[in-house]
Amino acid sequence: MTEHDITLTVNGTERELTVDARTLLVHAIRDELGYTGANVGCESSLCGACTVRMDGDAMKSCTALAVQADGAEIETVEGLAEGGEFHPIQEGFQEEHGLQCGYCTPGMMLTAVDLLEENPDPSREEIREGLEGNLCRCTGYQNIVNAVENAADSMGSGAVADGGERPDDRPVTDGGETADCGEVPDDGTASGGGEPE
Ligand code: FES
Ligand code: FES
Repeated sequence: MTEHDITLTVNGTERELTVDARTLLVHAIRDELGYTGANVGCESSLCGACTVRMDGDAMKSCTALAVQADGAEIETVEGLAEGGEFHPIQEGFQEEHGLQCGYCTPGMMLTAVDLLEENPDPSREEIREGLEGNLCRCTGYQNIVNAVENAADSMGSGAVADGGERPDDRPVTDGGETADCGEVPDDGTASGGGEPE
């Protein structure tokens, strides 16, 4: 097997490693460098559990070879908090109960951060569209959308943060409706999230 020396800058720290030509980026990040927040679900670009940010854009790290990322800047969920303080998206997930088993959560968060950089005040529909590549088998998505709204507000660009009322189209979630998975595009892959390790 051909091996290659590559350099990845992960969460601001430059790391050098040697990988097989066939090593997927997600395995290099997890197994070689120890950033286990990037989860492995489907390994086929369906679930989004492996999402990281590469050179500023969210991407599914099972879809690239490690050698293709040589020289890239990678951000994983471990890099979101700064100075011991949660990133607003982490606070949002905590406050809105946006996770259950947590397997999808790192990927959800990094995709959401990407979304909020591009669209700081997204509608609920835009949040759903932005997260459509990330599957969750637990939450039913409502609280995840709430979490992203919460982050948008606390990052200072939402209607609530502006002193006004955000149009509230939130469904009631205390009556069991969080189990309604039908509101996200259903491409039949909802079971593709894989098993927690
Ligand atoms: S593990 Fe990469 S998309 Fe599922
Ligand atoms: S919280 Fe379990 S898969 Fe999303």
